[in-house]
Amino acid sequence: MANASLNTTASSSDNTAESEADACTEQTRRALLIGALVTTTCLACSTQVRAGDDPPGSDDRPQKGDLLVFSEGDQEGKVITSSDLPAGGPPVHAWPKDPKTSVVRSASRLNEILIIRLDPAELDEQTRARAVDGIIAYSAICSHAGCPVTAWVKSDVGDKEVFKCMCHNSEYDPRAGAQVVFGPAPRRLAALPLTLTEGSLSVAGNFVGKVGGAQPG
Ligand code: FES
Repeated sequence: MANASLNTTASSSDNTAESEADACTEQTRRALLIGALVTTTCLACSTQVRAGDDPPGSDDRPQKGDLLVFSEGDQEGKVITSSDLPAGGPPVHAWPKDPKTSVVRSASRLNEILIIRLDPAELDEQTRARAVDGIIAYSAICSHAGCPVTAWVKSDVGDKEVFKCMCHNSEYDPRAGAQVVFGPAPRRLAALPLTLTEGSLSVAGNFVGKVGGAQPG
């Protein structure tokens, strides 16, 4: 009896072990399936991430020979010509574009540029030397805390219009190399030399001066 009991017990525990093993196998099978699914999904994700990566060169600083394209508005992406720039402002916001690869260098916000056409007679000597037909370009990133400089308004300290950063009201005079005329900005906007060939604007050299904010916003 004891043996029978033992056998019964053994048989019962065998059955239990068997069903546990079955359950375990099933769980393992499911885990493997889920693992395979997750792996497939992750591979799909990483493919998507790779597909969404910025193209090479899109975060490089403006290079000599780059064209300039509208960075916003109805004409976004279109190459800017001198006829797109109204005399006396407002400025046009632009990205540099590699003419060989057609890559627009918009992956770094530090590459956004303000282009404006002013009366050459209004420009100081240094700014006039850099201008083409009164057209000049500057970094659109405020030197205070790095906000974009978005406004073209009458200055708080004069009767002329100036570039204004609305974050903390710094103002820059584009006629005088974008020097600071009001607000907490510690230095002028970096200037970008331009050239004009048959009406088309392009970059003539690297930024002159430091691009970006001096402190976090
Ligand atoms: S970030 Fe432009 S004034 Fe402060």
